[in-house]
Amino acid sequence: MAAQDSTLLEAKSVKVYYSVRRGVSNILLKAVDDVDFKVGGGYIIGVVGESGCGKSTLARVLSGIEEPTDGEVLFNGESLRRMSRSKKKEFHRNVQMIFQDPYEAINARYTVFDTVAEGLRVQGVKEKGVVEERVHRALEYVRLSPPESFTMRKPFELSGGQLQRVAIARALVLEPKVVLADEPVSMLDVSVRAEVLNTLIKAKSDRGMGVAFITHDIALADYVSDYVAVMYLGKVVEYGRADDVVSNPLHPYTQAIIDAVPLIGKKFVDRELIKGEISSAMNVPSQPRCLDASLHCGSTRLLPVRREPFSACHGLRIFSV
Ligand SMILES: Nc1ncnc2c1ncn2[C@@H]1O[C@H](COP(=O)(O)OP(=O)(O)O)[C@@H](O)[C@H]1O
Ligand SMILES: [Mg+2]
Repeated sequence: MAAQDSTLLEAKSVKVYYSVRRGVSNILLKAVDDVDFKVGGGYIIGVVGESGCGKSTLARVLSGIEEPTDGEVLFNGESLRRMSRSKKKEFHRNVQMIFQDPYEAINARYTVFDTVAEGLRVQGVKEKGVVEERVHRALEYVRLSPPESFTMRKPFELSGGQLQRVAIARALVLEPKVVLADEPVSMLDVSVRAEVLNTLIKAKSDRGMGVAFITHDIALADYVSDYVAVMYLGKVVEYGRADDVVSNPLHPYTQAIIDAVPLIGKKFVDRELIKGEISSAMNVPSQPRCLDASLHCGSTRLLPVRREPFSACHGLRIFSV
């Protein structure tokens, strides 16, 4: 993957394999398969791909919730595996995750105040006045204003958009350097999506925060992101500046998902473009979902075509670019 200055968080050759039962035997499910990935200060990298391609697993590994089977995660160049306890705590303060479903991620019995304050308490910020000031500031930041009218509410007293903004406030209250946002607006009505997304864009611009924005929607990734990484069956198959990837996709899979979106696809919408079986790491298709699938496609090691944008495609169409 291309070099970006300001790299804070990095996955190096990360693999996450699960042993799953299938009938009478166990198979190895390659949820994330040899991924290199970087998040750096001041830009948003979109991670896009169909359901099941490994986006959430990659995010869990980057956030330190889950250990990779192989490869490593580095923060400021230091491997998570080798971090001392105090460094690990600093890592957890600096790398925050926003989950897809705020109703699941937020304790229904907690007030907004306790939800947002929890991370501060875990990090040892206990002084009442300081906690209150920081919680209020975080709520103002996500436009839950005035904060006093929200702090004592419980999740059921908030709309979906408000609750997701509480989830973002909970992440931002620690002033992290990196936020991993896993489909943060997919549960929200289209009408409130923009304001939630703009909060993340604002945090990037004002605070120089790095954001990995995970979505199955390439149009959304394009709207929010500076860079885009396209995942397919556990691998990053294409990477580059969002504009380049969307206007000039190098990988046939990227081409196919763009063409399936009427708004930004340049071609006539043709859902047949994504052919073959639905992708699932449980059932790796014998025929890749690609128009240009060739004999090369099953090769073990994917080759970068250009340094940036990067495409993992072996197709002749790509090599002749
Ligand atoms: N804990 C787990 N055990 C077994 N399989 C898993 C586990 N977590 C995820 N998977 C599988 O790994 C693949 C990738 O899942 P996920 O990362 O959730 O994809 P995405 O977020 O892109 O939808 C899927 O096939 C999923 O079923
Ligand atoms: Mg997911």
